Amino acid sequence: MKIAVAGTGYVGLVTGICLAEHGHEVTCVDVDEEKIAVMQSGKPPIFEPGLDELMLKNMERLTYTTDYRSAYAGAKVIFVGVGTPEKRDGSANLSYIYAVADQIAESVSEECVIVIKSTVPIGTNDRVEDYLKDALKGRVNIHVASNPEFLAQGTAVRDTLHASRIVIGVEDPFSEKVLREVYEGFDAPLIVTNRRSAEMIKYASNDFLALKISYINEIANLCEVIGADIEDVSKGMSYDSRIGSQFLRAGIGYGGSCFPKDTKALNWLARFNDHEIKTVKAAIEVNENQKFLPVKKAARYYKDLKGVKVAVLGLTFKPGTDDLREAPSLVTVPVLLDDGAKVRAWDPVGVENFKKRLEGEVEYCDTIEETLKDAELCLIFTEWPEVKAIKPETFVQLMKNPIVIDGRNCFETEEIRGVSGLVYDSIGRAVIDNR
Ligand code: UDX
Repeated sequence: MKIAVAGTGYVGLVTGICLAEHGHEVTCVDVDEEKIAVMQSGKPPIFEPGLDELMLKNMERLTYTTDYRSAYAGAKVIFVGVGTPEKRDGSANLSYIYAVADQIAESVSEECVIVIKSTVPIGTNDRVEDYLKDALKGRVNIHVASNPEFLAQGTAVRDTLHASRIVIGVEDPFSEKVLREVYEGFDAPLIVTNRRSAEMIKYASNDFLALKISYINEIANLCEVIGADIEDVSKGMSYDSRIGSQFLRAGIGYGGSCFPKDTKALNWLARFNDHEIKTVKAAIEVNENQKFLPVKKAARYYKDLKGVKVAVLGLTFKPGTDDLREAPSLVTVPVLLDDGAKVRAWDPVGVENFKKRLEGEVEYCDTIEETLKDAELCLIFTEWPEVKAIKPETFVQLMKNPIVIDGRNCFETEEIRGVSGLVYDSIGRAVIDNR
């Protein structure tokens, strides 16, 4: 089937390439000429494991262009995967969605289905359909359908090719028929709902996961106070299949392009409709406080951080991505710099993006060893495999004052216990002070 995809970010590009893998002819559209040129040369503009190979493998079925007119004119289905960033009031900014809608109205000449993949507030699909119908004035028969994505960065290709479920929200049989054809080759449960329910499934799923993380983080904070161990607590909980084992990892809070934005958007939507969504509101608050935990913990060891050499390991919001959106490092590092600390940082792929977002002096290192050398405090923000592979003795050997604040519980307490001289302060577990 001829498919166009608007937007070549994590959602749009991964969707387009996975649809090509399933035999569709896909044209990926973006307004950014530089990005298009990169993709035309066979490379993905984002870091996402497995994407480059699939791009190469399916190059005959993939086109990348800024020429939206011909892309949309020839497509039976147009997927919209542009960003819906957070506005200052917490609501979702839909300007990119409407910009694409304008381009679609300008271009289409045959009956087609416009499928919104971007996460949008409930009711947006209805409004986009009205908007397009107004603009087209009956010239072309168009349909709008919702098809939220559930991909996580770092595993986006796998999450799309082997989806947990495919949700389609439709209001007409034509859209349902076409979308069933699109996803014919995918081995995943297909859930057909109306558009508003599909939109809500996305928010309710993401916000539930965010809530689960904030819940375990609150339990972790309490564990520290009462002398329990969060790793044991999470493990003990996980055997209950009603709870499950995933998203029970305590840490310094969730970041990324979805959870922070989608919790705030649902909270905003509830308020806008004179409702209060207390659980989600609490998850947001807990997460914001959690991000400051490393700074609070640092104060246990240094009354004043002025001149203190701090080694930062990991900058991205999670491993497997170069994305820094809402990363806890972006909250903490500026505070450290404001307090006069001398910050040295390491991240395998996130440094370039970090440089773009941070004002202030940070020294970037190529190796973990270089970062730790002579440091007086180490903060771990991301559980990269390289960080988890550090032998705890290395902290003592390289650091001037081996105090480690581990925001992602990268080490078992057993590994740490015998390491003389090390102070290890993690999340939801007792501090181990081997001095
Ligand atoms: C998330 C959802 O998983 C995905 O389904 C949705 O489509 C988009 O949002 P993503 O943001 O890529 O995906 O990453 P995810 O792996 O879910 O992690 C988000 C954040 O939560 C990270 O900062 C991670 O460190 C944190 N997290 C996750 C925890 O702190 N504890 C956990 O147990 C799990």
